[in-house]
Amino acid sequence: MDRLHNESVLITGGASGLGLAVAQRCLEDGALVTVFDKSSDANDKLLEQLRRTRYNERLTTFAGDVRSFSDNEAAVAVALEKFDKLDCVIGNAGIWDFSIPLVDMPVDTLDQSFDELFHVNVKGYLLLAKAALTPLARSKGSIIYTVSNAGFHPAGGGPLYTATKHAVTGLIKQLAYELAPHIRVNGVAPGAIQTNLRGPLAMGMQERVIPGEALSKSIPDRVPVGVMPTPEEYAGAYIMFASRRDNIPTTGSILNHDGGMAVRGFGRVRGGDQLIEKLGLD
Ligand SMILES: NC(=O)c1ccc[n+]([C@@H]2O[C@H](COP(=O)([O-])OP(=O)(O)OC[C@H]3O[C@@H](n4cnc5c(N)ncnc54)[C@H](O)[C@@H]3O)[C@@H](O)[C@H]2O)c1
Repeated sequence: MDRLHNESVLITGGASGLGLAVAQRCLEDGALVTVFDKSSDANDKLLEQLRRTRYNERLTTFAGDVRSFSDNEAAVAVALEKFDKLDCVIGNAGIWDFSIPLVDMPVDTLDQSFDELFHVNVKGYLLLAKAALTPLARSKGSIIYTVSNAGFHPAGGGPLYTATKHAVTGLIKQLAYELAPHIRVNGVAPGAIQTNLRGPLAMGMQERVIPGEALSKSIPDRVPVGVMPTPEEYAGAYIMFASRRDNIPTTGSILNHDGGMAVRGFGRVRGGDQLIEKLGLD
């Protein structure tokens, strides 16, 4: 069943990592997709890949910066021009601070680093909502934001990243209140993912990539579910929040989609480690 049959979905940061997996899953579920990413090379690669598939006519891209209101407006205009309506926007483009603690932050770049993290991770989400208000109100659509485990717990980043993701949880609640009953606003808070998540230019981390290999080795031992999910495995949650059929009761809600971080025990991570043996199922 196409859960998003002919729904027009715009996603930021949709040319890489989690956003790419969500964009692809939206297409598989019947959506018309607009990818808004700063990387025009990645956008072109995505279009080229899909050109020979049945999704060719169902995807369009826009290259711009989520920190600019006019770029957000232009991305919305591209979606409306191509698909004539907008049903859902997904704020997802983000950068990380590579867990730099306060004590190690150079004072001379703190201002710019703070601004860069907050402008991409928080202002980008706010501007997207502002630019999409009229078409979303018209379609009685929805907004979905990518949060993170760092929106709830410490140690998923340094103070800057953690503060941006906590700010996003506040933004979701406030917008869900302000836009009800016309536009639903929800969030997905994934745990660690092996992607190309980058850092801020102000910290010289624009080419540094999240240490995927180390993460994939260490995460399974640190989360109750015992695996590090792939971007594709995280994507279904977005479909649930975007689906008009499955999400009628939900606004202002954030799914902790992080492998069970809130139910780690004090001693062992998983209380059920010996369950299979005890049940004689080994
Ligand atoms: N990777 C993880 O471990 C992890 C965990 C939890 C949450 N997240 C969140 O997931 C989201 C997606 O990140 P990802 O891990 O897929 O990283 P990614 O780098 O693979 O994808 C992010 C995309 O955003 C785009 N982007 C960055 N800055 C932009 C800007 N100013 N304007 C337009 N596009 C911009 C990039 O070009 C890239 O395509 C982010 O919000 C991130 O905070 C990631």
